[in-house]
Amino acid sequence: MDLRTRACNIFDLREMARKRVPRGPFEFMDRGTEEEVSLRNNREVFDRIRFKPRTFVDVSQRTPEATIFGAKHKMPLVIAPTGTAGLLWYEGELALARAARAAGIPFSLATGSMTAMERVADEAGGELWFQLYLWPDRSMSHELVNRAKAAGYKALIVTVDGVSAGNREYNIRNGFTLPFSLSTKSAIDMLTHPRWLLGVMGRYMLTTGMPMYQNYPAAAKAKMTRGPMGRSSLRTDSIKWDDLDAIRKIWPHKLIVKGMLDPHDALEAVNHGADAIDVSNHGGRNLDGIISPMEALPEIVDAVGKKANVFVDSGFRRGSDVVKALALGANAVMIGRATLYGVAAAGQAGAARALEIFHEEIRRNMALLGVNSVAELGPQYLKFIDPTLRPRAASRTALRTVDDARAVAEA
Ligand SMILES: Cc1cc2nc3c(=O)[nH]c(=O)nc-3n(C[C@H](O)[C@H](O)[C@H](O)COP(=O)(O)O)c2cc1C
Repeated sequence: MDLRTRACNIFDLREMARKRVPRGPFEFMDRGTEEEVSLRNNREVFDRIRFKPRTFVDVSQRTPEATIFGAKHKMPLVIAPTGTAGLLWYEGELALARAARAAGIPFSLATGSMTAMERVADEAGGELWFQLYLWPDRSMSHELVNRAKAAGYKALIVTVDGVSAGNREYNIRNGFTLPFSLSTKSAIDMLTHPRWLLGVMGRYMLTTGMPMYQNYPAAAKAKMTRGPMGRSSLRTDSIKWDDLDAIRKIWPHKLIVKGMLDPHDALEAVNHGADAIDVSNHGGRNLDGIISPMEALPEIVDAVGKKANVFVDSGFRRGSDVVKALALGANAVMIGRATLYGVAAAGQAGAARALEIFHEEIRRNMALLGVNSVAELGPQYLKFIDPTLRPRAASRTALRTVDDARAVAEA
C-alpha cells in the first residue's frame, strides 16, 4: 500500500515505526523522562490555544514559504538535531538530510549522529546546520566547530539544556546501550524485529561495522564508555557565557543557542553574539516538569524577536501546531520526533512523507484561517483558553499585520 494511504498523519508514522524498530531504540526516540509530565504537556498546550479565523479572504495564492535568516525556504520548518536517526534506519541521517533538501528546508546534524558530517555534506547537500554539545575538554568541541566550517555547514546550534542527562529509566530497563551490548533481553528484542535487524544492523555489520558516533574526534571515542543511551561520559556541567564567546570567535556563520526558556537568558545569548534562539525543552527528554516552549515563546519573542530569529520545538506533530507557534512570533519550528518516526518507518520516503504531511496541513490551516503568507500570522488569529499563554500587547507578533508582511516581502 502506498505511503500516503498508510500514513495520513504523523501518528500513523509513529505506529509504523513502533512495529519496525526494537523496543530499546524505539523508546529512546519516543519517550520522555521520569513521569513524562513535560512530554504530555508539550502536546496538551496546543489544545489551550484555539484559532479565530477570518472569512471573505481570497486564499488561492497562499504559500507556506518562510524567511529564515533572511532567506526564503519552502516552509517554516527545520529538521532538529537528533542523535539516533542512524540507529533507526541504515544511514538514517543521510535519508533525513536528503528529505529536507527535497522539501526545501534546513537539516541539522547532531554531534551524536552515526554518519560523519563530511559525508552528509558530500552525499546529501542542501542547507546543513551542525549541532554542538560542549564537552569537558573544550578543544575537542572546537575541533568539531572547525570541521563543520570546513565541511560547509551554514549554521551552528549550541545546545545548552543537557548539562546532565535526563533520567530515562526505560533505557536502563530495556538495556539499550551504545556501543550495543547483547543481553538476552536485547537479543530477543532485535530478533523479534527482523526487518530492522537485517535492514539496519545487518547492513552496518556488512559494511562499516557496529554503528558509532562518527563525528567524535578519536580522543573522544577513546573516552567513551558503554552505558545507557544518552548518558555520554563526555557531558560537561559547567557551561559559562565565556564558552559562547569562544565559539562566536571561531564560528563565522549563523549561531543558534538551543534549549532556552527564559527571556533573560535569551537576551544575554543575543548580547553574546547569538543570531537565533531555539526555545526548546528538548522534547520533554531532560527535565521533567519543565514548561512547554509554547508557554515561554511570547516572552522570548518580546525580549529578542526584533534582534534575532526565534525558533521553537518540542511536541509539534500537526501543521496546526506550527501555525500556532508562528502566530506567537516564531520564525520557524524545529521538528524532532515527527521526521524520526518517518525515517524509522520507511527511510527517506518516510521522512519525506512526514514533511509532506506538515506542508499539506500548514497550507490547509492557512486557507481555513484566511491567511496567504506566514508573515501575516499573529495572535489576532488565536484565542487563548489559558490566559497565561497570551502575548503582551507590545510584542512583535501583535504588530504583525498584512502591511508588515508586505514590508518583509519587499525587503
Ligand atoms: C531521539 C532524540 C535524540 C535527540 N538528540 C539530540 C541531540 O543530540 N542534540 C540536541 O540538541 N537535541 C537532541 N534532541 C532534541 C531535539 O533536537 C528536539 O529538541 C526535540 O526532539 C523536539 O521535540 P519533538 O521530538 O517533540 O519534536 C533529540 C531528540 C530525540 C527525540
